[in-house]
Amino acid sequence: MPKTSQTPEAADRNVSIIVPTFREAANIAPLAERIDAALSGTGLEWELLLVDDDSGDGSEAVVAELSRRLPVRMVVRREPPRDLSLAVIEGIRLSRFDRLVVMDADLSHPPERILDLLAALDGGCDMVIGSRYAPGGSVDSSWSLYRVLNSRLATWMARPLVKCADPMAGFFATRRSVLPDLQLLRPMGYKIALELMVRGRLRVREVSIDFRDRSVGLSKMNWRQQIRFLRHLSRLYNHKFGSLARVPFFSAVGASGLVVDLACYLGLQWAGIEHRLARFLSFWPAVGWNWALNRGLTFSERARQPHLGQLARFVASSLVGLAVNVGSYALLTSYMDLFDRHRLLAFFCGVSLGSIVNFLVADLYVYGRRTETGH
Ligand code: GDD
Ligand code: MN
Repeated sequence: MPKTSQTPEAADRNVSIIVPTFREAANIAPLAERIDAALSGTGLEWELLLVDDDSGDGSEAVVAELSRRLPVRMVVRREPPRDLSLAVIEGIRLSRFDRLVVMDADLSHPPERILDLLAALDGGCDMVIGSRYAPGGSVDSSWSLYRVLNSRLATWMARPLVKCADPMAGFFATRRSVLPDLQLLRPMGYKIALELMVRGRLRVREVSIDFRDRSVGLSKMNWRQQIRFLRHLSRLYNHKFGSLARVPFFSAVGASGLVVDLACYLGLQWAGIEHRLARFLSFWPAVGWNWALNRGLTFSERARQPHLGQLARFVASSLVGLAVNVGSYALLTSYMDLFDRHRLLAFFCGVSLGSIVNFLVADLYVYGRRTETGH
């Protein structure tokens, strides 16, 4: 019989558990103990690899102590940016085994379910999600309505990208060998599972879990992370659907700019300014708002250009948009009785025409088409 170093069965008797950490000193020991309790006696060889972003809260000392009796180690990333996804990628790179489980440190994800995730993975797929939204799963009962809606909205926005009830999950199992080249990944923020699923075209299965809120330490989720999520989503849409994917983002930005525009238009008239002048003035704050959001979101993966040059092109292009927008408003209200009686209607017609012109000019000229980077 030929000597093989590892049969597939032997390879499947081990797992690297990757946990990104930032200021989780108090959670590390309980996490390691629960993993040990869940996996000991199963014959499974495991390692717990914590990837820390230089927390400086004594985490390293906790791990040094634990590592005397459990297979636990910590690598510390010292270079910015501090980022959950980049920490996980570093963990994947440094893991010992092919089978991987990624989970949070704060015990939101039950270590007792690791074996179920691995069993499903061995049943033939590329990734198994510990899913809060698959039948039988749940989120913490203490979640506020705001948090529930926020999570549902994020999940809904990712729907076109993947067939999965909980693509936002941070608890999943996969294999190093099925993942795309790590160099090609462009994640930002929290959604590393989503990044892997979309760019790796992974076949995904879900196992329902009960998600518990952390009892110790603070969540690092904040509005900055939410913005990063939107930017990440925009990149993935572009990756999957090409340039057409910009239209819904551009429209959403435009709709938010419209709120700014309308508020200023009505506010200025309320302050006694004549309606045509109000229409002209309200355009500027709205257009500045749109430019910034489109730079960060709609065209975020295009190579960054110096603000000044881009601003100059933007002003030029907005003058064209302005001419179309205000010009059509003036024509409609001057020559058509209907629009003079219903000026808001003229307002929206002007905005629509101006938007179409703006999108084309933005795509071709302001945000530079030939400078595309990323994937
Ligand atoms: N290395 C590193 N660097 N780790 C980080 C960073 C970072 O910048 N930010 C957060 N972490 C670690 C935390 O220490 C924790 O282990 C894990 O990542 C999740 O962070 P939390 O701050 O607890 O996030 P959360 O509970 O709001 O979000 C979790 O649940 C979401 C679903 O509600 C995550 O699992 C999300 O991916 C998930 O979408
Ligand atoms: Mn958490």
